[in-house]
Amino acid sequence: MTTSLAGANRGIADNILDLIGDTPLLRLPPSFAPGVEAEILLKFEPANPGGSVKDRIALAMIRGAEERGELRPGGTVVECTSGNTGAGLCLVAAALGYRSLIVIPDKMSQEKIDTLRAFGAEVVITPAHVPAGHPEHYLKVAERLAASIPGAWWANQFGNPDNPGAHYRTTGPEIWAQCDGRLDAFVAGCGTGGTITGTGRFLRERNPAVRIVGVDPPGSVYEPYWRTGELPAAGTYAVEGVGEDEIPDSWDREVVTDYEVVDDAESFAVARRLARETGIFVGGSAGLALAAGLRVGARLGAGKRVVVLIPDSGKNYLTKVYDPDWLRDNGFLDRVPAAAATVGDLVRRRPRAALLPEETLDLAWRQIADRGVRPLPVVAARPDGELLGVADEDRLLELLAAGSSPQDSISSARRR
Ligand SMILES: Cc1ncc(COP(=O)(O)O)c(C=O)c1O
Repeated sequence: MTTSLAGANRGIADNILDLIGDTPLLRLPPSFAPGVEAEILLKFEPANPGGSVKDRIALAMIRGAEERGELRPGGTVVECTSGNTGAGLCLVAAALGYRSLIVIPDKMSQEKIDTLRAFGAEVVITPAHVPAGHPEHYLKVAERLAASIPGAWWANQFGNPDNPGAHYRTTGPEIWAQCDGRLDAFVAGCGTGGTITGTGRFLRERNPAVRIVGVDPPGSVYEPYWRTGELPAAGTYAVEGVGEDEIPDSWDREVVTDYEVVDDAESFAVARRLARETGIFVGGSAGLALAAGLRVGARLGAGKRVVVLIPDSGKNYLTKVYDPDWLRDNGFLDRVPAAAATVGDLVRRRPRAALLPEETLDLAWRQIADRGVRPLPVVAARPDGELLGVADEDRLLELLAAGSSPQDSISSARRR
């Protein structure tokens, strides 16, 4: 490793990359959780220049690829990511003069996509609800593009040892030093699992008694697999950045000593309350990790210290976690009672313009034309009404051109 990943945040920095890592550790005001006697410390990753914990692995993976000769001047960095790793990679690529191409599923927030484009990245959008292994799955698309573009290198955060390696070399040592070696638990949500694996490995090497607590939304496979050793069917959840439907190489079951499950409603409620009551503005996955951290702190009790990793800022989620209409539409906030409703509330209550996956391409086409709304969301049947993807004329024409019939259902056409 030629570039120090941490420790350069003092005085005048010469390069934006020198601002990556060395993030603050912030004490949670005890008034936020009066019943929790343990000290709760937040490892505050929104302080990274790209706004998330993923800047660390972006820098480590690109430096690793350069050192192995896999990425050369003029090359293209390719990755498939729900956002933060993409932003980190595009930032590092821009700073070092590489092109970047990011493949992202269509359920991701517009802010995240716009952030990638701000760094000059090319963004390829793929359907969110195709199964792993499908040729249109974002992993497959990234792999194909990396293989076909000369000079391209696929970062592959789920299989790249520099992902957990970055946390082993930076996040873990920083926390250990900031705590003077005195901590009882480290709590983090798992997306790739790189954070918990690298940080947890380092901390347990220093003190095997430190609890390393993973956090999952219900529907992710990590917690059930960690508990039983068997891979369950994956479910769905709205929190972004954490949870998986497969077990990647970047997550090591042996490092994790405990697992907590926190649902979307609690994750979002904790994040929102944190912003209002303390001014600490974080994303939904930070709400998930903090909800679990409070449980761990309550169990451990007075005199103990829990470090919770805060992956990113609430700014990425203004149209979701911090939008009361989105929360209400998705069942995370109570509806306004009819007697107190404004005209806006009543208009929002009309049945939404949306398609079901079992509806035909023909109906989808007519709905788009009749309602003049494009793209139209494709949502799962109630009660959960989860967003599965989006449909517009271009996408429907692509499916028809690829051999689907107008009478095929949207879900079967997308699987072809
Ligand atoms: C917002 C957010 N939270 C948490 C994580 C989890 O980090 P890791 O992939 O290291 O498990 C990610 C990863 O993408 C993320 O974007």
